[in-house]
Amino acid sequence: MRFDIVTIFPEFFEVLDISLLGKARANGVVEYSIHDLRDFTHDKHRTVDDTPYGGGAGMVMKPEPWGDAIDAFATDDTVVVVPSPAGEPFTQAMAREFAAAPRLLFACGRYEGIDQRVVDHFSTRMRVRAVSLGDYVLNGGEVAALAIIEAVARLVPGVVGNPESLVEESHEDGLLEYPSYTKPQEWRGLEVPPVLLSGNHAAIAAWRREQQVQRTRDVRPDLLPD
Ligand code: ADE
Repeated sequence: MRFDIVTIFPEFFEVLDISLLGKARANGVVEYSIHDLRDFTHDKHRTVDDTPYGGGAGMVMKPEPWGDAIDAFATDDTVVVVPSPAGEPFTQAMAREFAAAPRLLFACGRYEGIDQRVVDHFSTRMRVRAVSLGDYVLNGGEVAALAIIEAVARLVPGVVGNPESLVEESHEDGLLEYPSYTKPQEWRGLEVPPVLLSGNHAAIAAWRREQQVQRTRDVRPDLLPD
């Protein structure tokens, strides 16, 4: 799977060489290609932004460099992901959808965002998704893109060593994950729940399920069916 990232801060993406994602890159399972948006400007100052039509605070990213950059790296089967606090909430289901695409292109905006015509134009040619990480505002799309890339890349076969570990995670079955314990059996006066030491696999599975439902009800009741 190929990830193209267009940004004015390519150095943000040096972390893609670390840990599992770095290993997957070294093994050729995934490919990341980072591009500087300013390479698609044509003026001496390599300008990427301008004042907003209609007035208002802040600057808006100009459509021309974005148009040329996306033309250069996107094909008909690319999904263009535009991180934005005004986008659809990012979910595990969306991560699975993106992991099934052959190519993703991240358009990382800064300032007050990218001229809307960029999304409107490319939406007629390919899948374009404005995606929000959550109801808060970051300084730009880079950190959001990294989070989305990590969530997607780990679903690509061969990236995570033990694929079974992907199945029993939070959000995979619509519930939060159950609590986990390891040795020692007692730590600072706290015992591991006895059922986990029982060797009774059916009882363990039932307890874990209960814990998932309880946890989800406590902290994320919005995830439970009515
Ligand atoms: N850019 C700025 N804030 C963002 C958010 N919450 N999600 C995605 N991209 C963003």
